[in-house]
Amino acid sequence: MKYFLSFFSIAATISLFSCTSCSESNLDNSTQDSATTSDTGTGDIIDLPPPRLESDVSLEEVLQARYSLRKYSDEPLPLEDISQLLWSAQGITHGDKKKTAPSAGQTYPMEVYLATPDAFYHYLPQTHQVAVLSKENLIAPLADIGESFVAKAPAVFILTAVFARTEQKYGDRAERYVKLEAGHVGQNILLQAVALEMGGCVVGAFKDNEIATIFNLPDDNAPLYLIPVGHPEE
Ligand SMILES: Cc1cc2nc3c(=O)[nH]c(=O)nc-3n(C[C@H](O)[C@H](O)[C@H](O)COP(=O)(O)O)c2cc1C
Repeated sequence: MKYFLSFFSIAATISLFSCTSCSESNLDNSTQDSATTSDTGTGDIIDLPPPRLESDVSLEEVLQARYSLRKYSDEPLPLEDISQLLWSAQGITHGDKKKTAPSAGQTYPMEVYLATPDAFYHYLPQTHQVAVLSKENLIAPLADIGESFVAKAPAVFILTAVFARTEQKYGDRAERYVKLEAGHVGQNILLQAVALEMGGCVVGAFKDNEIATIFNLPDDNAPLYLIPVGHPEE
């Protein structure tokens, strides 16, 4: 049985996955790596199903199969797959801090956002939830950013970085470290997508200010990658 990340289906599956309204201050205290990033949105928080830790496909098969997929079917992503992809990007693995991707000095500068046709979400790794920041389709405006195929994906992951978190520890060296880390996170999403019989493409060709405006990103969140993901077009 599939659960799709739309408000209509979430309402129908509320008994399985709770959607709660919380104050933004509670959210910040419990889920953010740094006080510099805050969610200003609808106030809705959605519990994601737990990630699965086993697969029928080997890492080697996934590495061999990966390529940059730029043509997607309209098929929406099931909530289980959304959950899995977000976990692959920045899910908690060891203790309450370590994540699926390495981070210089455990400074964790990366923030992961997700746009679907239904809404715009911010991933909260510590609780494996998403905060609903907007109920608008923010994929559609991406048609004008240059790489127009991005706007045809059923899901677009937005990787941003709060450079100050890493600069506090590493100073000028942080710029290099943070961008390297974005590569790790991006590859995790691409490989996880293939393991789920989907594909994606990392996209760096955009104007930062345009992306920041479309998604109303916090001032301290620098957009580094857009990653459209979907099933291959038939
Ligand atoms: C840092 C970086 C930025 C990229 N930016 C874009 C982009 O803006 N648009 C795009 O279509 N592909 C982009 N790509 C994907 C590359 O074009 C792609 O990986 C390359 O052509 C090799 O093909 P493959 O991924 O299918 O192996 C980017 C890849 C990297 C690593």
